[in-house]
Amino acid sequence: MAKPTVSIICALSENRVIGDSGRIPWHIVPDLVRFKQKTLGHVVIMGRKAFDSMAEYYQERGRDLPKRTHIIVTRNPDYQVDLSGCMRAQSINAALELAGKIEPKEIFIAGGEEIFRQTIDRADKLYLTVIKGEFKGDAFFPDYSEFSQVVSEKKRESDGHKYTFLELTK
Ligand SMILES: NC(=O)c1ccc[n+]([C@@H]2O[C@H](COP(=O)([O-])OP(=O)(O)OC[C@H]3O[C@@H](n4cnc5c(N)ncnc54)[C@H](OP(=O)(O)O)[C@@H]3O)[C@@H](O)[C@H]2O)c1
Repeated sequence: MAKPTVSIICALSENRVIGDSGRIPWHIVPDLVRFKQKTLGHVVIMGRKAFDSMAEYYQERGRDLPKRTHIIVTRNPDYQVDLSGCMRAQSINAALELAGKIEPKEIFIAGGEEIFRQTIDRADKLYLTVIKGEFKGDAFFPDYSEFSQVVSEKKRESDGHKYTFLELTK
């Protein structure tokens, strides 16, 4: 059976900031819509911190998580997640293996920094939203200069930001 494509999906600033104090430093609605459209019905792998932050965002708004399978990577064997469609894996390898059993087409890796750093070499494709400007932050996206083939590039402006939706391969 053919292996699914491993895709990273991330929003970053031009200085590669992806987060600050556990939160994403911008709120760009079309980026959230794009993330949802790309990942809906697929498997999404996330680090425990990124997942907790996203789950909190939905909880605060009294909303369910979008319908997709979340695999949360954590070293903590006692980590509990009672939400439907959520599973736990104790390593990146275990997460990718589990994802490959469930997902025939495309697996998404959605952060945060630690997870991106450990998976960028294994990714086939990047879906990036590159936000114009330099931001202050404490979480960064790794160097992605190896991904030099531009599959698609769309410039956008909304929510007080200029940004580019990029699809890249190696
Ligand atoms: N802009 C974006 O698109 C985007 C997307 C996602 C996240 N973010 C931002 O990124 C930041 C969070 O990134 P982060 O690096 O602090 O955290 P993270 O990558 O989300 O999660 C780190 C956690 O993942 C687990 N982990 C990492 N490597 C592992 C491994 N090899 N095996 C097992 N478990 C492993 C550990 O969980 P345990 O501690 O439970 O063991 C670790 O503490 C936040 O600021 C967030 O807002 C931005």
